[in-house]
Amino acid sequence: MRQSLVVGNWKMNGSVQKNQSLLESLKQGIGSVQQAEVAVCPPFVYLQQVSELLKGTVIAWGGQNLSQQAPGAFTGEVAASMLGDFGCKYVIVGHSERRALYGESDELVAEKFAKAQSVGLIPILCVGELLEQREAGETEKVVKRQLDAVINLQGVGALAKSVIAYEPVWAIGTGKTATPAQAQDVHAFIRGRIAELDTGVAEKVQILYGGSVKGNNAAELFAMTDIDGGLIGGASLKADDFLTICQAGK
Ligand code: PGA
Repeated sequence: MRQSLVVGNWKMNGSVQKNQSLLESLKQGIGSVQQAEVAVCPPFVYLQQVSELLKGTVIAWGGQNLSQQAPGAFTGEVAASMLGDFGCKYVIVGHSERRALYGESDELVAEKFAKAQSVGLIPILCVGELLEQREAGETEKVVKRQLDAVINLQGVGALAKSVIAYEPVWAIGTGKTATPAQAQDVHAFIRGRIAELDTGVAEKVQILYGGSVKGNNAAELFAMTDIDGGLIGGASLKADDFLTICQAGK
């Protein structure tokens, strides 16, 4: 049985004051969350604050992105080792906003995945199709291509120390959640693709669903066989909503 994981992706949100009050509420409420592991991914500049507030609690933290390069002359970038310095356990790679708005290719995402693992961070690899790709019946093709970029660079074994997040792009921040059955179909496809290469890895890897997960739909999504928790954007900024979602973890 895979442990479920619920990760808050704060995106470019937060302030010193808001983070403090959100994390205090999470710390108070988290005691009642027995099952799921919980993590938050704030903007880089708040990692120091978040690490101080969460040290010694059951809540882990991570980055939202990283550089594929080793430290050096890369203005504005953040190295994997720096995330390690601030106690990050996870780092999100290949979020669809990075792919769409910052031109991150499958190959670049695979390099970032490898760099994260090289310093012991657990990459959360985001995959997912655009609306037009779903309508054209290309969902599986797109997701397979995104997944295979990592497998080709690192080998299927690398997925054993990673988390995968299936996030249909049309469901992110739109209020349009995939139905549990739609999500389960793609999760099963992803696990099946991995199983073609290594059944042990397929059985072990956590596959999260992301895209308009809220307190009122998390339980039915997380109840599906191949959905092992969620990557939560908007609802992770509200303590009550986020705690309700964490509570829905198996
Ligand atoms: P959302 O974002 O929950 O606001 O749809 C999810 C994500 O982008 O990770």
